[in-house]
Amino acid sequence: MSLREIDAYARLPLPVKSAEGVELILDDGRRVLDLYGGHCVNTLGAGDAGLARVLSRQWYELSFATNLIDHAPRREFLAAFEPNLPLAPDGWQVFCTNSGAEANENALKLALAFTRRRKVVYFKGAFHGRTAAAAAVSDTKLPAFPNAPFDAIKIPWSQSEVAHWAIDDSVGAVILEPYQSLAGVTEPTSGFLEKLRERCDQTGALLIFDEVQTGNGRLGTPWAAQHFGVVPDVFTTAKGAGAGLPIGLTVARSKFASGVPGKLFGSTFGGGPLVLAAAAEVARRIAEPGFLDNVRATSAALKRAALRGPVVKVRGAGLLLGLVVNSDTSAAAVRDALLAQGVLVGTSDDPKVLRLSPALTLQPSDAERLAHALETLEVRA
Ligand SMILES: Cc1ncc(COP(=O)(O)O)c(C=O)c1O
Repeated sequence: MSLREIDAYARLPLPVKSAEGVELILDDGRRVLDLYGGHCVNTLGAGDAGLARVLSRQWYELSFATNLIDHAPRREFLAAFEPNLPLAPDGWQVFCTNSGAEANENALKLALAFTRRRKVVYFKGAFHGRTAAAAAVSDTKLPAFPNAPFDAIKIPWSQSEVAHWAIDDSVGAVILEPYQSLAGVTEPTSGFLEKLRERCDQTGALLIFDEVQTGNGRLGTPWAAQHFGVVPDVFTTAKGAGAGLPIGLTVARSKFASGVPGKLFGSTFGGGPLVLAAAAEVARRIAEPGFLDNVRATSAALKRAALRGPVVKVRGAGLLLGLVVNSDTSAAAVRDALLAQGVLVGTSDDPKVLRLSPALTLQPSDAERLAHALETLEVRA
């Protein structure tokens, strides 16, 4: 066979045959604790029985339907999604697509159409996806396209003074990840998000939170808005919202969503019955008593477990954690050594920071396996 995939990913030496809950099962039967969770996707862990029942029933009942037809999973999704939303006096409206990048494209499109402006402010270290508009506001090493579709203005992360001057009444949108994940789970300095909110209110720019990673219960609250106590005008999510099925959601305050023509938006697959049945199940599970308590308890246990061996600092919230390694080693070397001990973690753009983004069903007791692996690992220089 001569056909190859484009060489986009450096694949790990991990012959995975199957997965169960928070474990990957290798060809030779070994079990690896998955603290990467499919990069924030596996909200409910692998092979969740409740989700399997929902998907199987939905597949036989109505596997797909054009967006010209309404269907029960859409109503169930909206009903399940609403109670978890941050409070907004005018309520919210949502548009369904297939990925985080698409969700961000639509958020930016909405903001620029509503404000009739052509400038977007974004932050150093940001990642919002690989399509044209999302890439234009991502701080990646390789430029994705020769031109941005709007004027994109990059400013330093978490510096209120600079943000104040950069955001004026010619700016249509300010987009940010409440925790910058790929940059190494860097948190905003205290009061920064409040200052952005205030400045956007003064200038009329729309504040967009990219909750592709921080959303769907990951921080121990349904959304980052509740974690930080700052409500954006628009937020986006994807990854964990479908627990393994491709989804992108653009969620906008009604006063903005109803101020632009609906015809700006469209998607063939987005909002299909199977995906929305999955998203409804995820939203219901997040709202179940004890679900987010477990996220917070497991987060505390992981933070305690991680602070040993080569790890000198832990940052982040809930089950989105950044582990800073000491100056003698690199995150990649520690990741490889942990893998040899049966624990999968992620790296980040910061060569000193590992990332944990496990299933939200991980239990506090699972943290002991990380502690043991960090204590006994042999890191190659
Ligand atoms: C914060 C953030 N936004 C957007 C995206 C893009 O999502 P997708 O790969 O689903 O297009 C990602 C993907 O890693 C992300 O981490």
